[in-house]
Amino acid sequence: MSKTIEEPKGKLGVLLVGLGAVSTTFIAGVEAIKKGLAEPIGSLTQMGTIRLGKRTDNRVPKIKDFVPLASLEDLVFGAWDIFEEDAYEAALHAGVLERELVNQLKAELQSVRPMKAVFDQHYVKRLNGTHIKQGANKLELAEQLIEDITNFKRANECDRVVMIWCASTEVFMKSGRDHEDIKSFEQAMRENSPAIAPSMIYAYAALKAGVPFANGAPNLTVDVPALTRLAINEGLPVCGKDFKTGQTLMKTILAPGLKSRLLGLHGWFSTNILGNRDGEVLDDPESFKTKEESKLSVLEYILQPDVYPTLYKDFSHIVRINYYPPRGDNKEGWDNIDIFGWLGYPMQIKIDFLCRDSILAAPIVLDLALFLDLAHRAGMRGIQEWLSFYFKSPMTAPELYPEHDLFIQLMKLKNTLRHLRGEELITHLGLEYYD
Ligand SMILES: NC(=O)c1ccc[n+]([C@@H]2O[C@H](COP(=O)([O-])OP(=O)(O)OC[C@H]3O[C@@H](n4cnc5c(N)ncnc54)[C@H](O)[C@@H]3O)[C@@H](O)[C@H]2O)c1
Repeated sequence: MSKTIEEPKGKLGVLLVGLGAVSTTFIAGVEAIKKGLAEPIGSLTQMGTIRLGKRTDNRVPKIKDFVPLASLEDLVFGAWDIFEEDAYEAALHAGVLERELVNQLKAELQSVRPMKAVFDQHYVKRLNGTHIKQGANKLELAEQLIEDITNFKRANECDRVVMIWCASTEVFMKSGRDHEDIKSFEQAMRENSPAIAPSMIYAYAALKAGVPFANGAPNLTVDVPALTRLAINEGLPVCGKDFKTGQTLMKTILAPGLKSRLLGLHGWFSTNILGNRDGEVLDDPESFKTKEESKLSVLEYILQPDVYPTLYKDFSHIVRINYYPPRGDNKEGWDNIDIFGWLGYPMQIKIDFLCRDSILAAPIVLDLALFLDLAHRAGMRGIQEWLSFYFKSPMTAPELYPEHDLFIQLMKLKNTLRHLRGEELITHLGLEYYD
């Protein structure tokens, strides 16, 4: 049976925390697509299709024609940042897109002016800005964010709003007593506990304001019991963490293939050079630790050394990020993979990925905004594991291990859409074709 999904009416506000490389590449991209200057390459919601029924049925609609998604024409953007630059200046600063393209979108980009941020340098050591809110305590700061959301919604006549964290990676933190339930979380905010990072204040504000939340960075943020419970109570979908782009995307494409052919792994060495602000922030060991944890877990979960000790026990996995300013956003990621096959004979795979991080991240932001809004209208609440496809460290229920295999993630995503529409799930069994 099909679930009742409210049709998207009116405008959808997309509130971005952080107006840096990813956010501006996303906003500029949507505006360029609306003007017919570019195609939405990399976006499942815009270009993806979904097979329905049997292979012989020839029913393969576009995803956007199958589920009711907000249209690009109805998106309105807002942001917070610790710098005052508008999206036009920030896009030029980030240097991802050519000046010529950015200039064609000047008016649209200039209209996105960041609101004052909730920020504390304790959590992002390498940044220092001035466009920052003041408040007696963290709860008061959250109230100011809620006011921002209300004002944005009213000023832009939005019907609905979603929030996506595209701000810098915070220092490594673990879930603790202050995050256990909503009461302890609010008490910790009142007492200015260091356990409450700025990203958590945004997530809390979003959920209190009735806004679904996605986390594009590896910070803990909404992945704590207090906030996932708040999401359920408020009937809101949440998801995270850390957009799956670049090297980790390659890992989750390649590792399932090696495992499916039962090829063994001695080691996987990954290193990157990048020169954008993200690289500068990750040059700080505490922010890097958050990123490292997110990048390292992927192989362990995909290869399951406990299940396949002969193939995957004790493989070395090393990940390095080197801040190298001349590269800007044009990262280079090298992988050296030592594998072994029949009779234990060793082989090597080398990858040199000349990628553009924000070009890979922007369509993810678009898809998450549209899918979170869909989930909200479909009455889905709490952690949205079906959106794991987009994340390096997918959030799951506490008792579950995350599914990292990109192809399983995609199947799960599409089956969730089929489920929402009351279509038969596709198992790929296919025996009926041979009866
Ligand atoms: N680009 C990718 O492919 C990719 C992939 C995965 C994750 N990410 C993560 O996405 C985030 C954004 O990446 P980016 O390349 O755009 O970085 P960026 O440095 O260009 O932009 C981040 C922006 O966030 C702002 N900021 C920091 N703390 C803030 C706060 N508390 N409130 C409001 N604004 C704040 C910064 O001033 C900066 O303008 C990073 O955490 C990065 O690790 C990016």
